[in-house]
Amino acid sequence: MSTRILHISDLHFGPPFVPAVAEALLQTLPSLALDAIVVSGDLTQRAKRHQFEQARAFFDRFPDLPLLVIPGNHDVALWRIFERFFKPHALYCKIITPDLNPVLRVGNVLLVGLDSTAPRHSISNGRLYPHQLRHAEEAFAAVPDEVTRIVVAHHHFAPGHDPVFDIAMPGAQRAIDCFVEQKVEMILGGHLHRSYIGSSLDFFPGHHRDRGVIIVQCGTTTSNRGKGREREENTFNLIEVASQTLTVTHYLYFEEAGKFSPLSKHIFPRPGRAFDAGDPASGTSPA
Ligand SMILES: [Fe+2]
Repeated sequence: MSTRILHISDLHFGPPFVPAVAEALLQTLPSLALDAIVVSGDLTQRAKRHQFEQARAFFDRFPDLPLLVIPGNHDVALWRIFERFFKPHALYCKIITPDLNPVLRVGNVLLVGLDSTAPRHSISNGRLYPHQLRHAEEAFAAVPDEVTRIVVAHHHFAPGHDPVFDIAMPGAQRAIDCFVEQKVEMILGGHLHRSYIGSSLDFFPGHHRDRGVIIVQCGTTTSNRGKGREREENTFNLIEVASQTLTVTHYLYFEEAGKFSPLSKHIFPRPGRAFDAGDPASGTSPA
């Protein structure tokens, strides 16, 4: 029995939003046999009321499933300075959800969403504060060991991996060290508008050299703001949590076909597990 989670990001309702791609996403959803949907921030382009209302209306067209949403830096007013400093999430909380650090249990998976926007300290980049790491720690401590732990945060734990320059979110290494202690297996995020699926060990070898955290960063699912290899492309991820493996299927929107289709599949053995020789998923065969 597995748990299937849709991971979309950076919708950017406003001028960059591409309605045809959004419709294609909605068409795809019934075939994915989902248990939950995760939206990792940047619902809007400029945090305007009507953009949040469009995002809300879009979510209302999703199948009736548990939904975890967190804000991105574009969901905080950029130029409306009073609003940015004194009530940065007012519209988001009123129209989308009042919970900026939501916790969702679905099947044998616990998802902890963390608001990484930090509007008083950062314009575009983000950060996580110690109280948020404690919040995650308390949520994960309250569930049995066998529950799969996943963190969702908008900003990127893996730096840009192509010629478009980006460094990781400040404090990313400290947060990952905490997540490893909390037995977090996967982090879902966005922000860079191009996908990355890999391991925190690629960037932060850290204290636990044998056990990093799987990092899954989604491109922009419904806007024209894709960057790097995903320039003007749209992507999402399907996460499948099973007893032996975590599988990420990476979908790309194919414009000629007018639909999303799988582009690659990434299979990770769960901690303490290994692919057996002869297992088709391992790519190995018995000697
Ligand atoms: Fe974005």
